Amino acid sequence: MALIKKFRIKSFKKEVSVLELDKISMFYNKRQILNNLSLKIHKQEILGMLGPNGVGKSTIFHIITGLKEPSYGQVLINGSDCTNIPVYERATKFNLGYVPQYGGFIQDLNLIDNLKLVAEIHIKDKNLRKTKIDKLISQFEFEPLIGIKSKHLSGGQKKKLVIAMALINDPSILLLDEPFAALDILTIKMLQEIIINLQSLEKITVIVCDHQARDLLSCVDRAIVLSNGKIIASGSPSEIIKDNSARSAYFGDEFKIN
Ligand SMILES: Nc1ncnc2c1ncn2[C@@H]1O[C@H](COP(=O)(O)OP(=O)(O)OP(=O)(O)O)[C@@H](O)[C@H]1O
Ligand SMILES: [Mg+2]
Repeated sequence: MALIKKFRIKSFKKEVSVLELDKISMFYNKRQILNNLSLKIHKQEILGMLGPNGVGKSTIFHIITGLKEPSYGQVLINGSDCTNIPVYERATKFNLGYVPQYGGFIQDLNLIDNLKLVAEIHIKDKNLRKTKIDKLISQFEFEPLIGIKSKHLSGGQKKKLVIAMALINDPSILLLDEPFAALDILTIKMLQEIIINLQSLEKITVIVCDHQARDLLSCVDRAIVLSNGKIIASGSPSEIIKDNSARSAYFGDEFKIN
């Protein structure tokens, strides 16, 4: 495993749950996807979420952001029940940043206009807005791409755009649904470093899911594995890969991280 994260937070001083899913169940028609799932995420924690295709990871993000309403259970942010707070209000009130698995930008706007659109919503001061956009353009090396219609960007460039859009409002909680998919090796490293710096400097809380399990495990404090609607394993990266249930449901016998 690449030594991206130099330390892992194992015990959190104040047991403050920034985000809590309390007994969440989710049905689509009569099919149950999530089954009485509870999860607490601490302030400044980077949590990795793993699990097979279709297990419900994106659904969990949709429930946290408010894009979907759970069939049962509550979503609490900073201790308050926000299950019925609409998407936009929830995002602004709790300063959520979200990178969806697909899409997340306006196809017919060029790259810089997508960034400006989000910046205009979140940052009132014109100069601050420009400073923030310029910083992201340089950080993500967008200079040659700013005038290109977003639908014409490559797969990885689109993903980078959506990640940059999610960072514009300096989120307190950042939700990343498969951020590493489609990214090249160096860009994955850059993103891992961004995530870790945001955690240590800005004290933000991150939930990330991805099937690039090694890349994910190298930058999280704790990982969970989902199977059949439940969390079947939880622990540090080195603990979780040894867990028998996690190995049989997700990692397989051969998986190693170094
Ligand atoms: N609107 C919907 N109507 C019916 N079924 C749905 C709907 N949305 C999601 N599902 C089902 O819910 C399950 C969970 O989907 P979800 O997208 O959360 O999985 P995932 O863990 O993110 O998978 P992947 O790793 O492939 O992204 C899947 O079986 C999917 O088919
Ligand atoms: Mg998904």
